[in-house]
Amino acid sequence: MAHATFHFPEGFLWGTATSSHQVEGNNTNNNWHYWEQEGRIDSGHTCGLACDWWGGRWQDDFDRASEAGQNTHRLSIEWSRIQPALDRWDDDALDHYRQMLRGLTERGLTPMVTLHHFTDPLWLMFLGGWEYEPVASHFEAYVRRVVEALGDYVDLWCTINEPNVYAAIGYLFGDFPPGKKKLGAAYRVMTNLARGHAAAYHAIKELQPHSRVGMAINYRGFLPAHKFLPSDRILAKALSRIFNDFFPRTAKDGVLRFLAHSKRIPEARGTQDFLGLNYYTREFVTINPFSPGNMVFFVKNFYDPEAELSSTGFIANEPLGFFDALRWGLQFDVPIIVTENGVEDHEDSMRRRYLIQHIHQLWRGVNFNWPIEGYYHWTLVDNFEWERGWTQRFGLWELEPETQTRRKRPSADLYAAICRQNALSSEMVAEFAPELLESMFPG
Ligand code: FCB
Repeated sequence: MAHATFHFPEGFLWGTATSSHQVEGNNTNNNWHYWEQEGRIDSGHTCGLACDWWGGRWQDDFDRASEAGQNTHRLSIEWSRIQPALDRWDDDALDHYRQMLRGLTERGLTPMVTLHHFTDPLWLMFLGGWEYEPVASHFEAYVRRVVEALGDYVDLWCTINEPNVYAAIGYLFGDFPPGKKKLGAAYRVMTNLARGHAAAYHAIKELQPHSRVGMAINYRGFLPAHKFLPSDRILAKALSRIFNDFFPRTAKDGVLRFLAHSKRIPEARGTQDFLGLNYYTREFVTINPFSPGNMVFFVKNFYDPEAELSSTGFIANEPLGFFDALRWGLQFDVPIIVTENGVEDHEDSMRRRYLIQHIHQLWRGVNFNWPIEGYYHWTLVDNFEWERGWTQRFGLWELEPETQTRRKRPSADLYAAICRQNALSSEMVAEFAPELLESMFPG
């Protein structure tokens, strides 16, 4: 076996990503709590205390992150805490976040702050959520408050997490609130999210000119199931255009493109200082002629039957799709930060391989001098996974929600070695996933 070390550039960001609703606990004033009350979470699970960060357990978890060699952490602010009602702001909640952010910086972790990660305050939900026309200006007002209060600790901002997932799952597939399946509504929501992002970008830059602002896009690889069928190739391309390209292209050139339709929103032009890239998996797609007349359901999608699947079959281990995602990201002409990547794996049997293989692809991109600045693993501690509740475990640390007990998984040590050495080495592979040695380090 050959010995080798894949080095990353000095100052590379290594961290984990979290979101407010998934870790804080007791967020009862937002649309996800409402959804939960309606019994829409798998197995009747409830978010409950989550990881109890609002109760103070962030302190121990941030200790874990810094002791494990991480130098950054991505977390999100809960809009419904900062603005509990349309006409009410909560300075105590802002103070709470100030303490958390101070806690990060004191531990040597650079904060990246997301301003919207799937949850909306109830008052906004009742006004129509992101379908409500004035939503962008409400979002801007909230963003201004946050940046004014927290700007001492943060200059790396992510306006909106996965606007493409928010719109697709909430307004086409119906698994996220508000559970709609309407193309027109999805398009309205996408337009307003793009406007909201642009408004937030300009507000942050005005308050903090030196800051860096972007959004996090969920990139999903779509491959034609039958390469020889033009219809499958066209379908894969069309899905990628709508799902992957829509937001970052709009933030680059200020033009919304949706199927055959396009519209200029000039204020969105040039509104990303970096591309936040979330990558989990890729899939094959084909046209399913027997499905009902709804455009969305003409698509049949499936994972490569050869691919290794995560515990619940949610994610296929497709590291080459990550390399494609990074290459795709180059077209936006801004640095790339991987804002999420990870896998659900209660037993921690697949995660070590997944992590090594994905970091290897990340390094390949870095080695081509692609402008990749950092990597955030999803996630630090098992958390509440949206409509899938607690059925999926993405943490480097295992959590027993009832007792709030944490247990370190072997992958946490692997990731710590990568972060500390700012590199991935054949020794690490030998220790944590020896089955990969031969393919990664032949000879
Ligand atoms: C992403 C979300 C994140 C988490 C992971 C598993 O789509 O941004 O909150 O749920 O999936």
